[in-house]
Amino acid sequence: MNFYRQHVFFCCNQRDSGKTCCNDHGASGLREYAKNRVKELGLSGKGKVRVNMAGCLDRCEQGPVLVVYPEETWYTYIDREDIDEIISEHLQQGRIVERLKI
Ligand code: FES
Repeated sequence: MNFYRQHVFFCCNQRDSGKTCCNDHGASGLREYAKNRVKELGLSGKGKVRVNMAGCLDRCEQGPVLVVYPEETWYTYIDREDIDEIISEHLQQGRIVERLKI
């Protein structure tokens, strides 16, 4: 068995150079929201789901981005509703959210 069933990496990179970055689109706050929701729903922990921060994932122009492993599914998102949909559809039901996929 894998230590985690799924791993969700949020790019939370912050740049001060003026170049686009995920954190300018609320990545850190929405990662915190996702982490809390996953916990509240009883999805977190060993054998379940882990939500982690990541540095730049090199898809900055499509950001903010997150990636779910082991499916290797990349998403972009705007708000809490998008995060809720990724959690309920992908993490709970195993269905890819096509409208947010990149
Ligand atoms: S800053 Fe997020 S992918 Fe590069």
